[in-house]
Amino acid sequence: MLNEYNPHLEYKGGELYLEGLSLKALAEQFGTPLYLYSASYIRERLRAYKKAFPEALICYAVKANFNPHIIALAKEEGAGADIVSGGELYASLKAGIEPSKIVYAGVGKTLRELEYAISSDILMFNVESFMELDVLDELAGKLGRKVRIAIRVNPDVDPKTHPYISTGMKKSKFGVDIKTAKKEYEYAGRLKNLQVVGIHCHIGSQILDVSPYIEAAQKVVELYYELVRSGFEIEYIDMGGGLGIKYSPDQSNPEPADLAEAILPAIKDTKAKLILEPGRSVVGNGGVLLTQVQFLKDKGHKHFVIVDAGMNDLVRPAMYSAYHHIVPVEKKERPYVKTDVVGPVCETGDFLALDRELPLVERGEYLAVLSAGAYGFAMSSHYNLRPKACEVLVEKGSYRVIRERESYEYIIG
Ligand code: LLP
Repeated sequence: MLNEYNPHLEYKGGELYLEGLSLKALAEQFGTPLYLYSASYIRERLRAYKKAFPEALICYAVKANFNPHIIALAKEEGAGADIVSGGELYASLKAGIEPSKIVYAGVGKTLRELEYAISSDILMFNVESFMELDVLDELAGKLGRKVRIAIRVNPDVDPKTHPYISTGMKKSKFGVDIKTAKKEYEYAGRLKNLQVVGIHCHIGSQILDVSPYIEAAQKVVELYYELVRSGFEIEYIDMGGGLGIKYSPDQSNPEPADLAEAILPAIKDTKAKLILEPGRSVVGNGGVLLTQVQFLKDKGHKHFVIVDAGMNDLVRPAMYSAYHHIVPVEKKERPYVKTDVVGPVCETGDFLALDRELPLVERGEYLAVLSAGAYGFAMSSHYNLRPKACEVLVEKGSYRVIRERESYEYIIG
C-alpha cells in the first residue's frame, strides 16, 4: 500500500525504509522534525513528464520545494523552472537552471524583482495585469532590453479542488478573463519594449480528475488562433501546473500521461511549444516528514499524540484541513485508537491529523508523515520561535544533508 505513494517507501522486517535507508536510523542521526526526500522518485516523476510530453518544456514549480538541491535534480533531468519571486529566481540560477528555461508568474512582482529577472534574461514573464505591462515596458526600456511576455488568462473552469488553491476562476486574484486578455494583448502589442510570445494559464492545484484541463486547453487554443489571426506570433502555450497526488489511501497518484491525454489533443495542431509547470506532482510524494512522539494524553473521549512537528513545519493540515497519511516507523501488532496527532505550537489549529484511526504508539517512537515533499518545508515558519527542520536527500542507499537544522543563533543573531 505504501508503495502507491512512493515505490521506494517500504516496510522491511517491521521497519520503514526509503530508498533502502532505515528511517529510524536517519531520525536518530539527524534528530526530528526531519524532512527526507527521495531523489529517485523525483527523477522518475520528471522522466514521466518528459515521456508523456516529449516536445514540451517542463518548468518545475519551485514554490513546491525551493531547496536548491531539489531544483538541481530538476535541472539534471533537463527541466526549467517556474518562479514567483526574486528568491526563487536566485535559487533556480544557483541550482544551475538556464535562464532561457525560466518563466516568472505572480501578481505582485516588485521593481527590484522585475529588474533582476530582466537582467537575467529569463524566457518569459507571465504578466497578470495592465499595470504590470506598463511597469515592465518602462523598466525594460530603461535597461535597454526587449522582454518576452505571456498574459496569464483565466479560462474560468472549475478545477474541483480546495477553494484556496483554485486559481483559474473569475473571482480569483490571478490572471485576467479571456475578454480582458484580448485587450491586454492588443495593448502589449503596442508597447515597444515588450515582445508578446505566449499565453499562460494555471487553473488550480491538487487536481485529481484531469477533465478541467480539457476545457481549459480548448479555451486557450481558441484564444491562440484569435491572436494568430490578429498577427501575433505565439510561440508558447503555458498550461501551468496543478496535477494532484495521492494523499489519502482512497486517492490515486494520477500520471503525467493522464494529463497528456487531456491537454495534447487540443494543443497538437498549433505551432506553439507547450510549457508545463508541475510542482506537487514532481516532489509531493518524494518527501516524508519524520517526527517523534513526545507525549501521550488522554482526555476521556480524546486520545492525543503530541509530536515534535507542528504547523510551523507542515501547515497544510491547519491551513487547508489537508489530509496527510501518517504511519509509525516501526510496524508491530497493536490496537488501533482514534487519535489526534498534534504539534507543540500554541494554537488549537496545530494538528497533523484529527480523529484518525492509528496504531497505539508510545513516547519516543517515530512517525512518518507522508506526501510532505511539496508545500511542506517551503511553507514552514519560525512561529513560536521554532528552528526550521533539517532536510536530507536520499538516493539508492546514500544520503546527504541539503539543509542543516537551524540554530537559535541563526534565527536571532
Ligand atoms: N504554476 C503556477 C502559476 C502556480 O500558481 C502553481 C501553484 C504551480 C504552477 C504549481 O502547481 P502544482 O503543480 O504544485 O499544483 N500551498 C498549496 C498549493 C498552492 C499552489 C499555488 N500555485 C498547497 O499546499 O496545497
